[in-house]
Amino acid sequence: DSLLRDRYRIMEDLEADLFTFKGFTLARVAIKTDHLEKLDDLEIRDDDVFIVTYPKSGTVWSKQILSLIYFEEHRTRTAHLDTIYRVPFLEYCIGKEDLGERPSPRLFNTHLPYYLVPRGLKDKKAKVVYLYRNPKDVLCSYFHFIKMYAVFKAGDTMEEFMKQFLEGKVQGGLWFDHIRGWYEHRSHFNIQFMAYEEMKKDLRSSVLKLCKFLGKDLSGEAVDDVVRQATFESMKDDPLANYENVLNTRVGVTRREGHFLRKGTIGDWKNHMTVEQNERFDKIFQNQMKDFPLPFIWDI
Ligand code: A3P
Repeated sequence: DSLLRDRYRIMEDLEADLFTFKGFTLARVAIKTDHLEKLDDLEIRDDDVFIVTYPKSGTVWSKQILSLIYFEEHRTRTAHLDTIYRVPFLEYCIGKEDLGERPSPRLFNTHLPYYLVPRGLKDKKAKVVYLYRNPKDVLCSYFHFIKMYAVFKAGDTMEEFMKQFLEGKVQGGLWFDHIRGWYEHRSHFNIQFMAYEEMKKDLRSSVLKLCKFLGKDLSGEAVDDVVRQATFESMKDDPLANYENVLNTRVGVTRREGHFLRKGTIGDWKNHMTVEQNERFDKIFQNQMKDFPLPFIWDI
């Protein structure tokens, strides 16, 4: 652990917590540019699965679900492996292993835009799940996340962070570009779009939908098991799933107050955005997302 910490430690007085790589904004934490450069060549296998998310859209949740679907032993928590290792990030180097050497079936997760993922994905061999969430809740979740870790620089207020978010000056870049890019290039990939809110409203149906897309034929009991261990309450209680320690122990980032599994609800933005901010956001959303066909759920 201490070796890893030293290797990836990021000085908290860095001028900038973010940088851009080929037009995409990433956090400096646990990033190595030579690794990014090589990603394009990562050899893709037929049974690889990639979860793609914009940050704060349910990444950790979908990692947990996917690994429960795939690896029977994780349902009993016997594997002692954090989700970050069961479903590693493509772009962030957390741990020493070589992604190309992982045994199949390999599960990956990424925040990358469609144009930076390994070239072989466009052969449509591997499966891609794009999980999206209504951007007001993303904004609100992101605001709390940024405040949680000392390494990220952000203004103290929602107003300041909202400006930053709407300019794409956050890890993941501009939310509108991310979702539009993936959606508009969907025909290049074997891809399934899913909504966070859909999972929240009916987790069992969402797990079944995922199983169908992935060609996984689980018994009813196994599906129940996945659902039971993927609820917010269960994950919050599970140290291997709740990300409480991942960033501080593995990446060396100091955590301030707050929890990664914060609220896990739909519509919390109403508690954090003013009427004026909401109207401003709506105008931009309507402008940027006109003609965009995927449905959004803003509230329950
Ligand atoms: P909130 O901050 O709104 O609570 P990501 O993993 O992409 O960073 O997303 C984090 C968000 O997903 C957080 O949202 C977190 O609480 C939520 N989340 C994680 N696990 C969840 C679960 N099992 N059910 C619902 N939401 C979950």
